[in-house]
Amino acid sequence: MVAEQSRLARKRIGFVPTMGFLHEGHLSLLDLSRQNSDLTVMSIFVNPTQFAPNEDFDAYPRDFVQDETLAKERGCDILFYPNEHEIYSDPYRTYVSVKQITELMCGASRPVYFRGVTTIVAKLFNIVKPHFAVFGQKDAQQCFVIKQMVRDLNFDIEIMIGPIIREEDGLAMSSRNIYLSASERKDALILNQFLNRARELIESGERGAVMIKSTLEKMIESVSSAKIDYIEIVETTQFKPVAILHGEILIAIAVWIGKTRLIDNLMITL
Ligand code: PAJ
Repeated sequence: MVAEQSRLARKRIGFVPTMGFLHEGHLSLLDLSRQNSDLTVMSIFVNPTQFAPNEDFDAYPRDFVQDETLAKERGCDILFYPNEHEIYSDPYRTYVSVKQITELMCGASRPVYFRGVTTIVAKLFNIVKPHFAVFGQKDAQQCFVIKQMVRDLNFDIEIMIGPIIREEDGLAMSSRNIYLSASERKDALILNQFLNRARELIESGERGAVMIKSTLEKMIESVSSAKIDYIEIVETTQFKPVAILHGEILIAIAVWIGKTRLIDNLMITL
């Protein structure tokens, strides 16, 4: 209703979907939306279909009161926070799934994840009816998957991508950072540090993916609380692993620090 009225009033609607427990990464996306819209909508919904049964759906941090304050302070016009039953009626039987580019990296480690993400984002797009939506580079593969879905299903929605927002010491902000103990918090710095080392290697002329991956692997394995989930180097137009780096390259890593899985990435154009 609000969406329809706003469209009739020629208001440009910007949309920021989130799962809440807001931090500066989420809030920076609100800034991007506000700069480009007349009306900014943010959703907060911890989406059950993108968690596998053994994952952290129940433990996922939630603080709606704080989220509401932060979002309003940052100029969010409408906060949409549906409950599970409003979104997934019983029985619920329809899913959106993007092929191929969801089968590697986060999709290989978390088989139901992207199907859950594309399903909820498609549903939210239909409810919010935005002119554009803003996603964070922090979840680089998610950005490619959403763009593919928008193209393939003819959503009339522009996708904007905001840069990765980091803590002062370089750790990419994430709602899951709260799971880290003090010593794990220090170890978590390796994700960004080692990606920066990979960048240096590339800037000094290295182009072999195997070489860069194995250097990263050795660095990460040297930290006792860290266990590699994946290290992948893909060329972004095909979103396929490359042997020799060329074009626009995404280096993406997922690392377990103790019981917490963290992701980070680096994009370089060669
Ligand atoms: P969530 O993890 O809450 O993230 C919401 C948005 O914030 C995503 O677009 C994510 O990439 C972005 N974001 C998170 N941390 C960031 C950081 N440090 N810098 C910049 N942007 C950051 O991603 C999801 O929720 C869900 O999968 C969702 C798309 C909402 C579907 O349920």
